[in-house]
Amino acid sequence: MIGIDALGLAVPDAFLPLAALAARRGVPEAKLTAGLGLHAMAVPSPEDDTVTLAARAAASALARGGVSPGEIGLCVVGTETAVDHSKPVASFVQGLLGLPASCRVFEAKHACFGGTAGLMAALDWIRAGSARGKKALVVCSDIARYGIGTPGEPTQGAGAVALVVSERPRLVAIDPETVGTYSRDVMDFWRPLDRSDALVDGHYSVECYLAALDGAFDAHRALVGEAAARPGYTDRFAAMLYHVPYPKMAQKAHARLRARDGDDAPEVSFEAKVRASLALPRVVGNVYTGSLYLALASLLATSGGRDLAGERALFFSYGSGCCAELFTGQIMPGAQAALADLPAALTSRRELTVDEYEALFQARDAARAPARAPSGAWPRFLGVEDGKRVYG
Ligand code: HMG
Repeated sequence: MIGIDALGLAVPDAFLPLAALAARRGVPEAKLTAGLGLHAMAVPSPEDDTVTLAARAAASALARGGVSPGEIGLCVVGTETAVDHSKPVASFVQGLLGLPASCRVFEAKHACFGGTAGLMAALDWIRAGSARGKKALVVCSDIARYGIGTPGEPTQGAGAVALVVSERPRLVAIDPETVGTYSRDVMDFWRPLDRSDALVDGHYSVECYLAALDGAFDAHRALVGEAAARPGYTDRFAAMLYHVPYPKMAQKAHARLRARDGDDAPEVSFEAKVRASLALPRVVGNVYTGSLYLALASLLATSGGRDLAGERALFFSYGSGCCAELFTGQIMPGAQAALADLPAALTSRRELTVDEYEALFQARDAARAPARAPSGAWPRFLGVEDGKRVYG
C-alpha cells in the first residue's frame, strides 16, 4: 500500500463574497452562484504568497500526521505561481520547516497539474525503493489571479494543500497501476513570464478540460481492462473527484464521464458522489495545483454521517497546456475523522468589501512590504531586501 498519509490546508484569512463582486461588475448574481457554482473566493494579503501558504499547509500536514521534519526524504512543491524564476518554492519551504539536508527538494510546474506531477513522483520514489523508509512531502500552492473585470475574475482563489505520502497511508491508498495519462500541446491558459495575471481562452479551456477527461478516462480504462469497459463501471466509486477551477466545471466533467459510462441522468450520482467534494472549493475558489486535493479534503471533511471507510474514489487531475491524469484510490478508516475540523477553520475568515479586495489586488503587484498590521500568522512575507525575498 502506498498513498496519502496526512493532509494540511492553508488558505488566506480573508474572502470576497461573489454576490458583492457580481453587484459591482453588473452581472447577475446567479451567473456566478448558479452558473459557475461559486459562493466566495479567498483573497491573499500582501503578507501571503505561494511560499507562506505552502509552508503553513506543510507544517499543518506534518503536525496532523505526527511526522517530524527529519522523516521527510523528498519535498516537491507543485506551483504555477512561483516567486522566483530560478529558486524553487520547495527550498524556501525546506528552510522554513527545517527539512534535513539529505532531503531532495524541487519544484514541479505544469499549470494545475504540477501538484499531481509531484504526487506521482513521490509514489514512484517510494515504489522504486529510493525512499529507504522516509516519507515524501508534496505541497500544492498557488494564488490564482486573473485581471479585474475579466470573465476569469470570479474564478480566482488562493491556498495550499500539503500531502504526506508514505507506505502506510492513513487517508487514501492510491492504486498506482490505474493512472491513465493524457497530454496535448494546447494554448488554453497561460501566463507569460512578465505577467502576474493569467491569460485564458475561457470557453476553449473548458473544451480542452473535457477532451483531456475523455483521453485520461480511456487511458485509465485500457489499464484496468475488461471490467472498466462495461457500462456502469464508475458505479463502484463512492466518490468521484475532479479538478475544480469552479464547481460547475466539476459538474460538467461528471456529466461527461457518466454519459460515457452509460448514465443519461448524472444528476443523481452527482449528488451522491461529487457534491460533498465541492463544499470547500465553493468558498475558497480555484487553488490551481491544490484544487483536486482541496476537493478530496472537502469530501472527507464534509461527508457527515456517511462512512466512507474502505470505499473507492476516482480522481481526475487537469492542468492547462495540457496534461491530465485519472486514477483511483481507497479511503482508509479514520480519514474522515482526521479532517473533520477543516471547515471550522474557514469560518474565522474576514469578509472583504469589493474596495478592499481591489486594493489588495493592486497591492500584490507592488508587494515590497506588507501594507497592513501584521496578522500574527506564520510565516509572513516581509518584503524584498537586496533582491532577496524575506520571510519571518
Ligand atoms: P463567461 O464566458 O463570462 O461565462 O466565463 P458564461 O457566459 O460561459 O457563463 C457561465 C455559466 O453561467 C454558463 O453555464 C451560463 O449558462 C451560466 P453553462 O452553460 O456553462 O452550464 N449563466 C447563468 N446561470 C444562471 N443565471 C444567469 C446566468 N448567466 C449565465 N443569469 C469562464 C466563464 C469559465 C469562461 C470564465 O470564468 C473563465 O475564463 N474562467 C477561467 C478559465 C477556467 O476556469 N477554465 C476552466 C477549464 S481550464 C482549467 O480548469 C485549468 C485552470 O485551472 C488553470 C490551470 O490548469 O492552471 C483554469
